[in-house]
Amino acid sequence: MERVNPESVPQKSLYTGARMPVIGLGTFGSDRYPGEEIAEAVAGAIAAGYRMIDCAAVYGNEHLIGPKIAEAMAEHGIKREELFIISKLWNDMHGDGDVLIAVAQTLKDLRLDYLDLYLIHWPFPNYHPPGAPPDYRDPRSVPYIHENYMRTWRQMERLVDMGLVRHIGTSNMTISKLKLLLRDARIKPAANEMELHPHFQQPELFRFCHDHNIVPIGYCPLGSPNRPERDRTPEDTSALEDPVIVEIAERHNVHPALICIKWAVQRGQVPIPFSTKPKNYISNLKAVTEDPLTEEEMAAIEGIDKNCRLIKGQVFLWEGAESWEDLWK
Ligand SMILES: NC(=O)c1ccc[n+]([C@@H]2O[C@H](COP(=O)([O-])OP(=O)(O)OC[C@H]3O[C@@H](n4cnc5c(N)ncnc54)[C@H](OP(=O)(O)O)[C@@H]3O)[C@@H](O)[C@H]2O)c1
Repeated sequence: MERVNPESVPQKSLYTGARMPVIGLGTFGSDRYPGEEIAEAVAGAIAAGYRMIDCAAVYGNEHLIGPKIAEAMAEHGIKREELFIISKLWNDMHGDGDVLIAVAQTLKDLRLDYLDLYLIHWPFPNYHPPGAPPDYRDPRSVPYIHENYMRTWRQMERLVDMGLVRHIGTSNMTISKLKLLLRDARIKPAANEMELHPHFQQPELFRFCHDHNIVPIGYCPLGSPNRPERDRTPEDTSALEDPVIVEIAERHNVHPALICIKWAVQRGQVPIPFSTKPKNYISNLKAVTEDPLTEEEMAAIEGIDKNCRLIKGQVFLWEGAESWEDLWK
């Protein structure tokens, strides 16, 4: 198997001074990829030189991934401190006392003593089942309320105090929500995981994160080409088929996916592309070590932003919310 020297992969600094690789492997397979296949990809990716893995309790595969991380570490002589492991608190574990229970389960499943980064997956303490269809409405859904979020955040801060997680962060947050969190947090968020790809560049939120030393981790960096159709609407577009991306890819003689990854890293975000195919996840990793894009190419990609959000969060709509756009205020 081809291998990329992990030391050749650039790193990004968190505000604590800790460092993380500029690319990680995503592990959300929706219902298309069996957990075993994803866990195998994690093992293969670590063997190939990946050092960052993006996990989440709701992906339902941490118990399969944990043994594979342990195996890969043992087989390749990798120390725990060489890895950067992310996981996320699911929406049904925001209650008082729940956060410690949730992280304990994740640590047990991943067979780790600590996480490098633990994120609140969504700013909604809602209870919909994983994989719920977009029109699903849970009567227990509640809107975002800053005071409630802070109650969850205080529990997250305790996990840092306890040494169970090194950093805490957010996911799917907006500027207005992050402003309040930054005002009231004792331990600041180190990262915000957010949808970021050439057709959804979120320039204001991206700049806000940059200005506040919050690492923008970009999910769906390739525009999630294989996500089940239910998540898509006809107006959704694919960055991989965008003529600008295709043209740059032809010039570099690479797959358009690699152009999306190079663009992401050069822009200053941390992409976490998902793949279970060694050929793909290895070329994704190699892309960050090879030929950068030119300034002109970067500018051309900046020009194709379509403000096209793929992960709209329809499943979080509660009675009274007029549309999914309400979720993103
Ligand atoms: N925080 C959140 O709320 C949130 C939300 C969504 C996602 N995420 C995270 O972000 C990760 C990435 O997002 P995503 O999985 O939705 O989308 P993505 O990474 O944009 O796209 C993944 C798809 O692209 C294909 N692919 C990967 N590399 C390729 C290459 N070099 N050439 C051609 N095709 C390639 C993969 O198929 P093959 O397997 O066939 O290669 C896979 O189906 C997730 O896995 C998850 O960890 C987080």
